[in-house]
Amino acid sequence: MRRLHLFELEDQAWWPKFIRDGMTAYLSRIMAAFDMLAPLMPKLMEAAERSGAERIIDLCCGAGGPSALMASGLAERGSSLMVHGTDLYPNHAQLTAAAEASNGRLSYSSDPVDATDVPAHLTGLRTLFNGFHHMRPELARRVLEDAHDKRQPIAIFEVVDRRPANLIGLPAIPLLVALLLPTIRPLDWRWLPLTYLLPIIPLAVAWDGFVSMMRIYQPDELRELTTGLDGFAWDIGRIRLPAPGPPMFATYLVGLPRT
Ligand SMILES: C[S@@+](CC[C@H](N)C(=O)[O-])C[C@H]1O[C@@H](n2cnc3c(N)ncnc32)[C@H](O)[C@@H]1O
Repeated sequence: MRRLHLFELEDQAWWPKFIRDGMTAYLSRIMAAFDMLAPLMPKLMEAAERSGAERIIDLCCGAGGPSALMASGLAERGSSLMVHGTDLYPNHAQLTAAAEASNGRLSYSSDPVDATDVPAHLTGLRTLFNGFHHMRPELARRVLEDAHDKRQPIAIFEVVDRRPANLIGLPAIPLLVALLLPTIRPLDWRWLPLTYLLPIIPLAVAWDGFVSMMRIYQPDELRELTTGLDGFAWDIGRIRLPAPGPPMFATYLVGLPRT
């Protein structure tokens, strides 16, 4: 399928913050419920070890779901790397709770951090989970150039790829939102009427999920985005996910400075 860059509600500056926060909190919740980071951890560990990074800077971290899963996953595997979450629209309530529950392994920036221009003091292995598809090719290229020019290693993951098989799960999204949303802590009570009376949040998550899938870069498109960034060694590919049904894949791109 051709890449289509339709609009995501979550990206709109006018989209109400508490609804965006509900949507990113749901993403964190579902990532944790299905342990969606586990299949990606070996590639992440490899990138962390080969980069020699002293910490992880998680860009586009949203409500901090992958940041927290990374922090605990790294600790379980004997790594002492800490994780620092950043986002253009940080979800303060969820990030504060995740940082408090992390035994000091997770911190976050309360100010907005743009993945296309990361402040120089935020050094470390940059990670992006389910965030790169938000960037049009010019911006996506800028994310890679920013890491390359500041010589900061980068590891990008999307938990799905852009193939028709991924459309199968889309109709289940509103139901999953309705089931999981009340289990989110801290819970914003304003989410409940917008889930069960007027289902704006479930439908918005489903719409953004569909648009996200249509925006995801395939490995050949990722390779093209790295053209000329020769100061880095690039490793790009797909990871088979342990899901029932037709084969499902995550996509990844890892860039490490050449010595
Ligand atoms: C689909 S969410 C993913 C959140 C989280 N990584 C996860 O997997 O649960 C994408 C996030 O990217 C953020 N984002 C979009 N454009 C950005 C940019 N230019 N710089 C930093 N964050 C950005 C959004 O605010 C949103 O929180």
